[in-house]
Amino acid sequence: MKYPIVSVVCSVLFVAVNADIYLHSPRGSNNRHDENTRERTNGNRLFDSQNNNRGGYNVGTPMKYYAGSNLQIEWTNQHSCNNENSNCELILQYMCNSDLRDGTRTDTILEHEAISKDQTFGMHEDYEYYLWCSLRERNKGLFTADQNFDNKHTAKYTRQDNQGTRYGYECAEERDYYPYWQPSPWKDIAILTNNAKKCPYYQSESQNVKSRWGCYFSFEDLKKAKYQIYTFPKKSLPNNKEDCEKTTVNSIRGVWIEFPTHGLPQPDCRETEFSRDNHLGNGLDGSPNLYNWTLPNIDETKCVFRIRYNISTGDYDSWSTTADYNGNPTKLDLSDKYVLSSAEVAKNRGFVFKGNPNVKLFADANFELQLAVDTSQYGRTFQDRTHVFSIKERPNSLKGAVIHNLNVRGKRGNIVQVYPAVEYDFVPNTLNIMTGDYVHFQWTGSDKNPPNNAGQGKAGTDRNNALLLTSQLYPEGNDVPFGPGPVFGHYGNNYPNSLNNAFFLDLRKTDLIQLSFLKPNAADKDLNNADPYFNLEPVKVTTVGTYHYVCTRNNNFSNRDQKGRITVNKFQMENEALGYMGGVMTSRDGQVELTADQGVFDRLQKLTLEVWPREEGVRRMKIIGVNLSTKEMYSSNFVVLSPQTELTAPGKKFQFRMQTDPGAENVNIYLLSSDSGLSSWNKVESAIGKDGVARFTASRGGVYVAKSDSYTVLITKWFKEANLIKRSARDTV
Ligand SMILES: *[C@@H]1O[C@H](CO)[C@@H](O)[C@H](O)[C@H]1NC(C)=O
Ligand SMILES: *[C@@H]1O[C@H](CO)[C@@H](O)[C@H](O)[C@H]1NC(C)=O
Ligand SMILES: *[C@@H]1O[C@H](CO)[C@@H](O)[C@H](O)[C@H]1NC(C)=O
Ligand SMILES: *[C@@H]1O[C@H](CO)[C@@H](O)[C@H](O)[C@H]1NC(C)=O
Repeated sequence: MKYPIVSVVCSVLFVAVNADIYLHSPRGSNNRHDENTRERTNGNRLFDSQNNNRGGYNVGTPMKYYAGSNLQIEWTNQHSCNNENSNCELILQYMCNSDLRDGTRTDTILEHEAISKDQTFGMHEDYEYYLWCSLRERNKGLFTADQNFDNKHTAKYTRQDNQGTRYGYECAEERDYYPYWQPSPWKDIAILTNNAKKCPYYQSESQNVKSRWGCYFSFEDLKKAKYQIYTFPKKSLPNNKEDCEKTTVNSIRGVWIEFPTHGLPQPDCRETEFSRDNHLGNGLDGSPNLYNWTLPNIDETKCVFRIRYNISTGDYDSWSTTADYNGNPTKLDLSDKYVLSSAEVAKNRGFVFKGNPNVKLFADANFELQLAVDTSQYGRTFQDRTHVFSIKERPNSLKGAVIHNLNVRGKRGNIVQVYPAVEYDFVPNTLNIMTGDYVHFQWTGSDKNPPNNAGQGKAGTDRNNALLLTSQLYPEGNDVPFGPGPVFGHYGNNYPNSLNNAFFLDLRKTDLIQLSFLKPNAADKDLNNADPYFNLEPVKVTTVGTYHYVCTRNNNFSNRDQKGRITVNKFQMENEALGYMGGVMTSRDGQVELTADQGVFDRLQKLTLEVWPREEGVRRMKIIGVNLSTKEMYSSNFVVLSPQTELTAPGKKFQFRMQTDPGAENVNIYLLSSDSGLSSWNKVESAIGKDGVARFTASRGGVYVAKSDSYTVLITKWFKEANLIKRSARDTV
């Protein structure tokens, strides 16, 4: 009996969260504008972040992304995700609207209609939205624990914001709860959760696809109602149909109306990647926590991206605990969770959900410890938002192209000075693309970082450039080179290549000069005369290879590095993280498709799907010692799914479709997995139609190819997956 209690008490203590979230790419403001102090001036400027006052990035010239381009979102979250010690949700959203603005000052926009138009104040949600929120009855079915709500009737009061503090024009109730039941201007991109079984619920409830209903009053009526409600604080505007239809406020009658959906597809929803507690850093595999966002096909000059991080304690079932448990803290029975015999025992020993309870650790002796419980923070949402950016329609020359954004994160300073923001880095630090894709180099920055922050060039300024590194002097790494094709630029060195003979991504000399000097006609060695904002229109990349580049200004070897890598692959390659919800991966030419139904994967799998033409497959087979050495022996391309392990939940399979030669005889799909157990071709049960389309189910990664049954072969020598793919890819140009 004593055991579980003691260990559980420890976990309760750990759960006392201060779990910030900071957005690094695109940069999050954390409510900063462009103050040159380490702390932000005003944490209430636009939204409630609940973050530490440090962190956040100053505003710069707005970024301009192309519609439909790939943008890698990177953040750090301080508490854990995908870890059993708490519940975690990350909600990624955006909004576009011509009234959005960063403003030019750090104070909060006033709660005043005329002043709401003053462009010097930053503004995201608008005045009318806030007005309605601040007058509308709050959802009284919500669990508010022992927080006091006397005379606090409207949606601006929540368990987490019990004082109704205003942050820009954000609505506290909308901020704290998702999916939110009233209309919201925020459009859903993705929900990442440690309980992906909730995904169908999130997806179907999203305002992307489901309309909202509300008690509508015109702006004029709201203004009148405000006056009245503020005078009689027990009043509020109804939030439900019944009350709406019978309520008149100052002779204004509400109308219960439907607010249409955003008319967008369901948001993506999947597991979060793992991150540990008390650590603002990378995920498990050493790369940042990230989400690959394909920007919507819109043409909007003013958009903002927002990420919320909802972390709730495992002490009670926060999703099914309602207002029935409000007030008296002993109503919420924690006895089950803490292996105590009854609610009564739990209560007597202090295992109750209230502010700073004292818990008795033994049933029969008076040893008590106080727990740091704050019921406004157990179950808490953090947030960060970008400054304003635009999503531009593509010119005709870029229609249909795959565009990858290549940006810079971080700000001037050493690691201590910038924390919890980060130092400079290119994003994605390693960018993997296919020949024919476009790279869009663009970055922004500020000239008003704290003046004492370490760095090169003029105090306080952010500047970046990108130059190919000096050509390779000796092979790097082990015997497994990193990327495909020839290597351009020596990653381990710190000098740039001469621009006279630099071969960097098919870039023209004029572009190389731009990327190096930013402002060629007024160049100075530290780039001080250039603008912190830089944009090179997307460039098409056709030459296979692995490119290493550097920012000359910020690469101060023993202090800070700013280098990046781009790999350009000749063959089709798709990356996708699929989890419990499943999904579809399709090769670019449409000839290969993997479909996983809900439940096929029981955790997040970061999959890579490659297609090698058969000459290439044969060449690589030879390298690993497979003597099936002519391409005529194969009746399809080689389809490679990584990681080459068992991927599915026990007994579950995903579906595969791939093209084989129509009409070939005695042909079947074979699988070779270079990891444990499979050292020979294994026949896969498949149905191949007259059109040559093969359909089959499978549960593991490996190399899938169609071949005649008469060619059998033993594989005597097989390499690890990395060698199989990377070593041979290297030789390919
Ligand atoms: C956070 O989680 C709680 C349950 O613990 C839920 O009621 C709330 O809606 C969530 N809020 C957000 C913004 O995800
Ligand atoms: C590189 O960093 C060190 C330590 O911060 C500093 O002393 C030195 O001046 C820097 N180099 C340049 C060129 O700024
Ligand atoms: C995001 O995209 C990159 C490059 O395409 C890929 O390497 C990475 O695995 C993707 N990550 C996730 C979580 O989808
Ligand atoms: C592959 O071919 C080589 C040369 O023809 C031969 O020496 C070797 O035994 C063969 N290996 C297998 C597994 O058939």
